[in-house]
Amino acid sequence: MAEMEIAINGQHKTSPTKDDGVYDRAKAVKAFDDAKTGVQGLVDAGIAKLPPFFYMSPEDLHDHPTLTDPHLHSNFQVPIIDLKDILDPAEHKEIVEKTRSAAEEWGFFQVINHGIPQHVLKEVLDGVRRFHEQPTEAKMKYYSREADIVRYYTNYDLLQSRGASWRDTLICVMAPNPPPPEKYPSACRDILLEYSKHVQRLGEVILGLLSEAMGLDPDHLNDIGCSEGHTFGCQYYPACPEPDRTLGHVRHRDPDFLTILLQDQIGGLQVLHEQHWIDVPPMEGSLIVNIGDLLQLISNDKLKSVEHRVLAKSVGPRISLACLFTTHFEASSKVYGPLKQLTSPHNPPLYKETSILNYLSSYASVGGLGNALSSFKL
Ligand code: OGA
Ligand code: NI
Repeated sequence: MAEMEIAINGQHKTSPTKDDGVYDRAKAVKAFDDAKTGVQGLVDAGIAKLPPFFYMSPEDLHDHPTLTDPHLHSNFQVPIIDLKDILDPAEHKEIVEKTRSAAEEWGFFQVINHGIPQHVLKEVLDGVRRFHEQPTEAKMKYYSREADIVRYYTNYDLLQSRGASWRDTLICVMAPNPPPPEKYPSACRDILLEYSKHVQRLGEVILGLLSEAMGLDPDHLNDIGCSEGHTFGCQYYPACPEPDRTLGHVRHRDPDFLTILLQDQIGGLQVLHEQHWIDVPPMEGSLIVNIGDLLQLISNDKLKSVEHRVLAKSVGPRISLACLFTTHFEASSKVYGPLKQLTSPHNPPLYKETSILNYLSSYASVGGLGNALSSFKL
């Protein structure tokens, strides 16, 4: 396919490209996007080298030192929170306290005994795999850069970014106002719908803990709509032929209130903590929770939305499912600003109020490497 050849080689004999030998990046990116075959399509084509638009600069690849063995020091271990005895009053208090310190100091933690059955976790990752591994023609019809409720693409910021990430994504908006089930791809429809019910409940539980952790009524964050919507980012990171020259997912903060992430056993996710990249090691059966920008904003910086990234690997595919708690395309007049309960004359609001749509459009315009929150600072 001509587009694919241009995407791979940057030039094509019969097409009018710059003939001074300069790599026409925009043209290569567009050809790749027009081919709608994703990163997996490059792998299927048997490439041994990445198209140059995937190469990242050494500064973007090595912006902070990586601490390869966080287990050496407990200060550098992503906190693990066991939810088993959450209904026991004494244990509950302890869990709230652990949640508070994890959300304030790390912005990231892993939860175990979270109540979602293990077979559901396994089956939903299998469903994501089935979608990405079906024949190209079946996936292509979902390939889109529009704000569609169900869509598939390579990098939401492909057309603007300095270096593309080695990853394909299926986005499915699950709530509120889900579309008729037939809108979701048949390869994963039933299990996405089932997982959605479980993760919705878990999201409410965690937002309850975070409300208490900030000294609010346990229902507060749920009542103001933090768990009203959720969207799935079904990520697929194929094995990469040049893993040292790109990333699976460039550093970013999440554009939501809260993310619950399910990762498989391959590894590669890292969180920025005290100026070091720290591995978030796969733990069978656990889920990863992180604070998003909107929760940082309404908590007036009490909780932290922390940067994270995924390394590219020569082994793969790596599969993950990020559940982003936010409403996406709901044109609501609701605005969010620092909660009155958390501000005072001594602790004045740090941010302007914003609607979710307005925040998302700012996030989209600054791209993954930008800091959308800073544009709402007072
Ligand atoms: C995300 C994300 C990490 C992963 O989708 O926002 O950070 O492990 N994903 O796939
Ligand atoms: Ni993320």
